[in-house]
Amino acid sequence: MKPVTLVVVGAGSRGTTYARFASAFPERAKVVAVAEPREAYRRAMVDKHHIPPEKAFADWRDVAAQAKLADAAVIATQDHMHVEPAAAFADLGYAILLEKPMAPGPEGCRRVVDAVKRNNVLFGVCHVLRYTRYTQQMKAMLDSGVIGDVVGLQRLEPVGFWHMAHSFVRGNWRNEAESGPMLLTKSCHDLDWIHYMMGVPWTAVSSFGSLKHFRAEEAPEGAGERCVACAVAATCPYSAERIYLEALRRGHTGWPVGVLTPEPTQEAVLAALRDGPYGRCVYRADNDVVDHQIVSVEFDGGRTATFTMMAFTKMRHRETHVFGTRGELVGDGRFIRHYDFLTDKTREIDTEADADGSILSGHGGGDFGLMDRFVRAVAEQDPQWILSGPDETLASHLLVFAAEDARRDGGVVTSRGE
Ligand SMILES: NC(=O)c1ccc[n+]([C@@H]2O[C@H](COP(=O)([O-])OP(=O)(O)OC[C@H]3O[C@@H](n4cnc5c(N)ncnc54)[C@H](O)[C@@H]3O)[C@@H](O)[C@H]2O)c1
Repeated sequence: MKPVTLVVVGAGSRGTTYARFASAFPERAKVVAVAEPREAYRRAMVDKHHIPPEKAFADWRDVAAQAKLADAAVIATQDHMHVEPAAAFADLGYAILLEKPMAPGPEGCRRVVDAVKRNNVLFGVCHVLRYTRYTQQMKAMLDSGVIGDVVGLQRLEPVGFWHMAHSFVRGNWRNEAESGPMLLTKSCHDLDWIHYMMGVPWTAVSSFGSLKHFRAEEAPEGAGERCVACAVAATCPYSAERIYLEALRRGHTGWPVGVLTPEPTQEAVLAALRDGPYGRCVYRADNDVVDHQIVSVEFDGGRTATFTMMAFTKMRHRETHVFGTRGELVGDGRFIRHYDFLTDKTREIDTEADADGSILSGHGGGDFGLMDRFVRAVAEQDPQWILSGPDETLASHLLVFAAEDARRDGGVVTSRGE
């Protein structure tokens, strides 16, 4: 079988990650074209995948102006730049893998879903958490009825203090007008995951949350505008020098250091901290997204779930409890502990136990698990491989928008919008 051909739209952090699947499995996928305005990132993709010059574009619109040149488009542009390319590539007949969120609001999401359905193209959204070994194991356990009827679920997203500072205070997702609310840009994965696990439609939602800490009023006495010239940097856990230069010293050149500069050397990182957004004081950036939020959801049949997004944690996997009529599951992103009411016994499952070290099993398998299934769906023209297709993704995105409305208005929003 010939490899599935891909055009990567947006060769930034995520586009590059998905393209790695093609390097690892050249017999299954091949990157044949790229659209990326930043020359260094475009060149990196061209060199890595031997893309001919005439197939390297500065803008997705240049690709969309041509006849279809690949089987599928991997759209990994920034959040507010998803709807237009998704609709355009669907109209051209491309299978589409679209980064989350589909769109910043319900109308955009509906436009994308309409376009893919109208054109009958394969479509998946990068809800990578659905594709991990851990998730698949837990879902199989719940579907098998091992804890009886699921009554409730509790999930914590420990964002991590420095990850919050990097992405949601200094970085791309700090400002609602530029990207979207935290619940959409970060936690849409979690509400999608909860929805997937509960396995029934949601009916009502409420939410509270605010930007508590990363505000000018909270700046310590003597804090400067930038970490490189700050009198209190040594005692600040959010110091950019601590986050990036220490990571570099430990040999990390990928995320998050690679986000600052395509060539992460000490000099380049220092220059980025002096002049770029990632060197700003966390108390003086133009961020407005919440740093903590809770969401309560009612599901069909009176089932309930709660979700907490919290910036002020060590960065670690999400933690989940699922409560059933015959038992309980507790998961930490790798291990699942199952307590059975009848036997009073607990067994622990290591979802990484048979990981074979390949990229498909690494890091829980999410990014490449997604690519594995998407590429298979395109090769076989079979949507069943895709776990995050148009309908289920639209439903969980609508839950996110409803929860955010509930937080803003301090009320309860039902799935019928009443
Ligand atoms: N699924 C996940 O777990 C996950 C994780 C992180 C980010 N994301 C999402 O992935 C998307 C991309 O995030 P990222 O971190 O890779 O961002 P990024 O900024 O590194 O990459 C986006 C790229 O799009 C390029 N671009 C801008 N205009 C373009 C145009 N007209 N045509 C083609 N390319 C264009 C940019 O130059 C940039 O390189 C975002 O929507 C983000 O929310 C998803």
